[in-house]
Amino acid sequence: MRRLLIRSAAAAASLAVMLAATLPGTATAQSAAAPAASSSQAADAADAGTTANPAGTTAAANAASASNAAALSGPPAGFVAPVMPLPEDSNAQRAKSQPLNNAPFWRGVRESGVNAGISNLPGAEKGVLIQPFVQYPGSRHTNAGEAWRQVRNEWIIPYGGSLVVITLLALALFYFTRGPIGGHERHSGRLIERFTYFERAAHWANAIAFSVLAISGLVMAFGKFVLLPLTGHSLFGWLTYALKTGHNFAGPLFAVSLVIVFITFVRDNIPSRDDLNWLARGGGLFGGGEPPSGRFNAGEKIVFWGGVFALGIVVVGSGFVLDKLLPGLAYLRPDMQLAHMIHATAAVFMMCLFLGHIYLGTIGMKGAYRAMKTGYVDEGWAEEHHSLWADDVKAGRVPAQRSQRRPPPVLPAVAQPH
Ligand code: HEM
Repeated sequence: MRRLLIRSAAAAASLAVMLAATLPGTATAQSAAAPAASSSQAADAADAGTTANPAGTTAAANAASASNAAALSGPPAGFVAPVMPLPEDSNAQRAKSQPLNNAPFWRGVRESGVNAGISNLPGAEKGVLIQPFVQYPGSRHTNAGEAWRQVRNEWIIPYGGSLVVITLLALALFYFTRGPIGGHERHSGRLIERFTYFERAAHWANAIAFSVLAISGLVMAFGKFVLLPLTGHSLFGWLTYALKTGHNFAGPLFAVSLVIVFITFVRDNIPSRDDLNWLARGGGLFGGGEPPSGRFNAGEKIVFWGGVFALGIVVVGSGFVLDKLLPGLAYLRPDMQLAHMIHATAAVFMMCLFLGHIYLGTIGMKGAYRAMKTGYVDEGWAEEHHSLWADDVKAGRVPAQRSQRRPPPVLPAVAQPH
C-alpha cells in the first residue's frame, strides 16, 4: 500500500513535470537552460522515488512563472516589433511591414471595380478583378459577377428549365387528351398552293438554325444536370464545346433567315377584325369548330409578332453582343452579363412559344406539316382551317397557284379521326 502511494505520488509528480515541460512559457525558460535535461531528470527522479529530487519539480514551476512574468513584462530584450501597417501603405511597403498579409492589396482587389488596379491580364478591364456592386433583377446587392451568377443559377436555370418542361408536359397532355386538331374536312382533290418553294426554303432554313440553337442552348444551360451524369466529363466537355461552336455559327444564319421569314410572311400576318373573333372563341378549342380566319389565324399571328418579330429581335440582338458581332461596343463584363441574362430569358420564352408552333406544325394538326413540306393543301383543308382564305382563293382574289412550279399530281386525303 505504502509502495502504491509512493509510486502514484511519484507518477503525479513526473506528470506535473512533464506538463510543465510542454507549456510554452516554461518551454521558453526551460529551453533557455536545457529543456531536454529537465524533463528526463524529473522522470528519473520519479522512477527512482520522489524523495530523490524534490528540487526538479519546484525548478520547473519556477521556470514557468518566470516566463509568464517575462511575457507580461513585454518582449524580450532586442526584439524589434514590425512596423504597424498603415491603410495607405503601398504594396511594396506592406510587403516589408506585413509580408503575406496584404489587407490594402485585397481591399484594392475588392474595390477594383471602382478604382481599377493594374494587372497583366489580357483584354479590357484588366485592372478590375472584382466588379463594382450592383443589383440585377432577382439578385442581391453584390459585386456584378456574383449578381449575374445569382440571376443565372437562382432564376434562369430553375425557372426557365421548369417552364420548358411544363410546356412540353402541357403539349403532351393536350395531345393525349384531345388528339390532333382537324381531319374533318371534305377531300375535294383540288389543290391550293399555300407555300411557294421560296417560302418553304426560307422557313426550313430558319427552322433548322433555330433547332440547332435551341438544342445547343439547352445543353449549355442544363446539360450539366441532365447529360453530364450520363456521359462523364470528357465526352460532355467535347459535346458542349462542339455545340457551343455550332451555336455561335448557327446564330448569324438564324438572324439572316429570320429577317427573310419576317419579310416573306409579314403581309399575311397583319392583324384583322376576324382575329378578335378567333381569339374570343379560343381558336375553336372550346368546341364549335375553328372560327373563320385568313391565310394565317390569330394564333399564328401571335407567334409571328411575338416570336419571329419581338423575341426574335431580342434574342438575335443579345446573341450578337455575346458573339461580339456588333461594332462600337467595348464588350466589357457588364455588357456581356446583361446580354447573357436578356438572351437566356428571351430564348426560354421563344423556345416555349415555338414548341407550341412545332407541335401544331408536326403532330398537333392534321395536314399542317404536309403544307410546309409540299407547299400544297387540299381545298377542303383550307376551308376547315382558314375558311376566309379559302373563300378568297375560290373567289379568285388570291391565286390558287402562285409559283411557276407544277403542283404535285394528287394529295391523298388527310386521315379522318376515328
Ligand atoms: C422544327 C421546327 C418547325 C416546324 C416543324 C415548323 C412547321 C411549320 C408549319 C407546318 C407551318 C405551316 C402552318 C400553316 O400552314 O399555317 C409553319 C409556318 C410558319 N413557321 Fe414554322 N416550323 C418550325 C420552326 C419555325 C421557326 C423556328 C420559325 C421562326 C423563328 C418559324 C416560323 C414560321 C412562320 C413565320 C410560318 C408561317 C405562318 C405564319 O406566318 O404565321 N417556324 N411552320
